[in-house]
Amino acid sequence: MRILVTGKNGQLGRSIQKTVNTDIKIDNNQSPNDFIFVGREELDLSSESSISHYFDNNKFDIIINCAAYTQVDRAEQEAELANQINHLAVKQLASIASNQRAKLLHISTDYVFDGESGKPYTETDTSNPINVYGRTKLAGEKALQALMPMNALIIRTSWVYSEYGNNFVSTMLRLGKERDELNIVSDQMGSPTYATDLAGVILEIIRHNKFRDVAQTTQVYNYSNEGEISWHEFAKEIFKLAEIDYKVSPVSTQQYPTPAKRPRNTLMNKDKIVKVFNIKISNWKSSLNTCLTILKEQQ
Ligand SMILES: NC(=O)c1ccc[n+]([C@@H]2O[C@H](COP(=O)([O-])OP(=O)(O)OC[C@H]3O[C@@H](n4cnc5c(N)ncnc54)[C@H](OP(=O)(O)O)[C@@H]3O)[C@@H](O)[C@H]2O)c1
Repeated sequence: MRILVTGKNGQLGRSIQKTVNTDIKIDNNQSPNDFIFVGREELDLSSESSISHYFDNNKFDIIINCAAYTQVDRAEQEAELANQINHLAVKQLASIASNQRAKLLHISTDYVFDGESGKPYTETDTSNPINVYGRTKLAGEKALQALMPMNALIIRTSWVYSEYGNNFVSTMLRLGKERDELNIVSDQMGSPTYATDLAGVILEIIRHNKFRDVAQTTQVYNYSNEGEISWHEFAKEIFKLAEIDYKVSPVSTQQYPTPAKRPRNTLMNKDKIVKVFNIKISNWKSSLNTCLTILKEQQ
């Protein structure tokens, strides 16, 4: 079994590496040696020729695409680059996976939605991205589905954080040391996702016969931790669990303008992934606690 994971230096890529190397869930059918992790040095998704060249020399049974252009605000200025990585590279990966008869597991985002629905989004709800990042990710999903109607799987996730790299949790902990108080948006709602939890789910899915067996139609699944909160509530809980006495005030999106518009409420319904893959989903608070405990141990 040869399993390629792209984005090895990103939050999810690193979380999969950590889980593969430590998890007891890795069983006899799958060993850490099956996994090949690559970053942009080995496989640059901004370059069509780099992608072709890499796969001319490497064949896989499963490709897990964790790499993406993820800078939501900067994407407004770098639409072409974001489109290349989030759309055209995904299209190329789908074509290659299809030729190699590999399965493809791709990660997408809640930002494919406009956030205006009054209820949690299901996988079949109409997408309508409101920023460049969301549009490029949706274009990637559609290209993948067109080229691979079978044998691929897309997981839409939201508000990803981890003990790696820059994310909302690490930013809050840093700002907590630099400033006396913070204003955080309280009218954008959603669910955080601890990257280690998502990594565990991905590893469960790729072992599952509903993914491994031939002739599975390509499906989209929603995944995040459980619970619906605002960024403001998220920030407050980070400081509480980290035992930092800190003033976090709620502000509206209008009071905190950003280059990219953000959807208001992207809470996703996760019934499908729970039912099909028998996944147990942790509450956001317990996962946040796990992440903060690890961060504390690393200090
Ligand atoms: N972060 C979130 O809040 C969030 C929310 C919803 C969905 N998602 C999706 O979840 C997935 C994983 O996200 P993440 O949080 O792990 O993102 P991340 O930490 O930003 O990691 C993305 C990785 O993609 C790599 N990458 C960027 N450009 C590349 C290129 N041209 N060639 C090869 N690799 C390239 C980056 O490489 P470098 O390390 O070299 O820069 C980075 O390691 C992505 O599909 C993302 O769209 C994320």
